Amino acid sequence: MSEILVLYYSRHGATAKMAHEIAHGIERLSGITARLRTVPEVSAVCEAVEDSIPDTGAPYASLDDLQDCIGLAMGSPTHFGNMAAPLKYFLDSTTPVWLAGGLAGKPAALFISTSSLHGGQETTLLSMMLPLLHHGMLLVGLPYSETTLLTTTTGGTPYGASHVAGVNNDRPLSDEEIRQCHALGRRLAEVAKAQQAAGLIGSGGA
Ligand SMILES: Cc1cc2nc3c(=O)[nH]c(=O)nc-3n(C[C@H](O)[C@H](O)[C@H](O)COP(=O)(O)O)c2cc1C
Repeated sequence: MSEILVLYYSRHGATAKMAHEIAHGIERLSGITARLRTVPEVSAVCEAVEDSIPDTGAPYASLDDLQDCIGLAMGSPTHFGNMAAPLKYFLDSTTPVWLAGGLAGKPAALFISTSSLHGGQETTLLSMMLPLLHHGMLLVGLPYSETTLLTTTTGGTPYGASHVAGVNNDRPLSDEEIRQCHALGRRLAEVAKAQQAAGLIGSGGA
């Protein structure tokens, strides 16, 4: 059984909901399972150390999770038009994986949540691609054959899945947003499986 890492940060739960829908999409492909992982908050108090296991939800990600998996779905809330600091902080710890080429040739897909429709969905998705390109990952987006991209009045971009959570962060995922999460997860799994079958990814890392 091969696994795809669903790595996300979520302060208030919207991105976490998307992570579960992405995982459903991934697991629509037989032989592939999703490994859900999150990252701890970062603290302005340098001595503060989080427990190694969160009280609720997905476990914290380790560098081994990146090495082990054959693909990566990465999600964040938009914070000022960019990914949130805890996810960036985790990515900044991945130099050993980068030196080993541990993500090179593996596919990656992105998902994000904003409060407002024009609050920086595309800028967040595009900027999240940059560190993954440094790692040599192959980016997977959503084609317009996912026709909800043409008609959505909530989230949905060709650069990745997105959710408009509303100013109180209480809007549920729309039918289109759920469908797009499933389509993106499945597409990521298909590419990972093809890369693996072509011998371009080792089952335990690149
Ligand atoms: C520090 C901070 C910055 C934010 N910046 C933006 C922004 O630039 N655009 C936007 O639409 N929403 C912004 N938001 C709102 C979040 O992106 C939105 O509530 C999101 O759905 C939260 O996801 P979560 O529930 O997974 O934490 C910001 C929220 C915080 C806390």
